[in-house]
Amino acid sequence: MSDAVVKPPTILVIDDDTEIRYSLARVLSSHGYQVTEAPSGEQGIATVKAGPHPDLIFLDVRMSGMSGIEALQHIRSVNPKQLVVLMTAFGTAQTAIEAMKYGAFDYVMKPFDPAKVLALAQNALKAHADLRAVGDYKPTINADDYREGIVGSSGVMQDVFKVIGQVTASDVTVMITGESGTGKELVARSIWKHSHRSTKAFIAVNCAAIPDNLIESELFGHEKGSFTGATVQRIGKFELCDKGTIFLDEIGDMALATQTKILRVLQQGEIQRVGGTETIRVDVRILAATNKDLEAMVKAKTFREDLYYRLNVVRIRMPALRERGDDIPQIVDFCLQNLVKQRKTRVSKVSPEAMAVLTRHTWPGNVRELENVVYRSAVIAQGDAILVKDLPIEICEAVGLPVSAVAAPAVPPEAVVPTPVVIPLPAPVAPALTLDSALDFVFAELAAGDGPLLPRLEHEMVVRALAADGGDEAKAAKRLGLTKAVLQKKVKE
Ligand SMILES: Nc1ncnc2c1ncn2[C@@H]1O[C@H](COP(=O)(O)OP(=O)(O)OP(=O)(O)O)[C@@H](O)[C@H]1O
Ligand SMILES: [Mg+2]
Repeated sequence: MSDAVVKPPTILVIDDDTEIRYSLARVLSSHGYQVTEAPSGEQGIATVKAGPHPDLIFLDVRMSGMSGIEALQHIRSVNPKQLVVLMTAFGTAQTAIEAMKYGAFDYVMKPFDPAKVLALAQNALKAHADLRAVGDYKPTINADDYREGIVGSSGVMQDVFKVIGQVTASDVTVMITGESGTGKELVARSIWKHSHRSTKAFIAVNCAAIPDNLIESELFGHEKGSFTGATVQRIGKFELCDKGTIFLDEIGDMALATQTKILRVLQQGEIQRVGGTETIRVDVRILAATNKDLEAMVKAKTFREDLYYRLNVVRIRMPALRERGDDIPQIVDFCLQNLVKQRKTRVSKVSPEAMAVLTRHTWPGNVRELENVVYRSAVIAQGDAILVKDLPIEICEAVGLPVSAVAAPAVPPEAVVPTPVVIPLPAPVAPALTLDSALDFVFAELAAGDGPLLPRLEHEMVVRALAADGGDEAKAAKRLGLTKAVLQKKVKE
């Protein structure tokens, strides 16, 4: 086993107050950390420069001479990945904001609560170890290969792609149904891009966002003076979109009167501007989408049955994200790569534990919600990878991950750092993780690395068993099915 597993983590305490340095060093060293001290920002920087870099630094904000914030900037320029916790007696918003802005992992208020200081040190070092463990992350896809923006290799998505391919050659009307955020608009755009109308306009109209009294004018235009406020003639979307494709989004929210007029376009290819008498011929392909139950609306007579059949010539049902859990890692990688390209983040990796949480969540808001969570977590992440601690707590709770595992693990630091921390597997929800699928994953992970599989698997099992049993070798040996002597030999190795 490598040196790193047995060496205690090193912590540098930088404070001009001798008493604070002394008490902090005592608390930390009594819990197994190897502590060094520096009485000023200048000396702290010199220590960091001289190396080796400490695993963690506790740095006072207000010191005579160089301020903590200044020292933090210097230290991070020497070692951009340096973990620093700032200490302050003044919990002002400004200190907190500056601390995080300049890359502190966290900050702690004086006077200290030793338990809090220890929990903080543990959390910081755990995050650091997790980041290192992410190592060479291999993204599941290359976003450049997905110009359409639709990612998914699950069977249900392959079926969707096939239908898209089938409907592009003709002008057939397509009804796209599915829960909110499943990608209905994306599919509509894809149909248009592959159709012979791709060089002409694609206009999306959100029927739910336009008040009933304005929708007809929006769609068909109006003549000057046709109603109060109609001071000039207006050309509607259908006329503008001649030879193109119109996407009627949220069509279930369209008023019955407007539905009648849409039916006329579909049957006769004609419109009339509001207040006008002239019949105008339009050549427009209609794609429609809804997350409403149109069949129920037809029964309740709130949606015209004849229009329903006209629109529903081909139906594409977008599967909810929970029906295609296998696609989640690809969508996550796709989102991250796009965010990096747009310079919204530098985070390009996800730890296996965090990915397991994302894959298990049932995503009521579907891909849109997943996108938001990935963005939010990338903004919060402090290294180059999203860790479980960066995910919204609600998501961790929803998959049955105890929040304590996200915030502050209640285990002694020796058991947690620097051995990899095992996040307890959440209660299975669809798609359930079976031992079989977990082993498949482990096999694939190991096979992707270097060297023979079994010794590496054994190493991981030994590390995990020790962590799970709080470092108790007798218990870990029993769990592994080894004698204590054999386990000790393996630990030495
Ligand atoms: N398969 C996918 N791969 C990558 N991104 C996707 C996928 N599906 C949807 N998205 C993204 O998710 C977001 C929501 O997609 P879209 O707007 O098409 O959903 P929608 O079904 O129209 O939602 P709503 O019913 O709320 O209007 C968009 O940002 C889209 O780019
Ligand atoms: Mg939409």
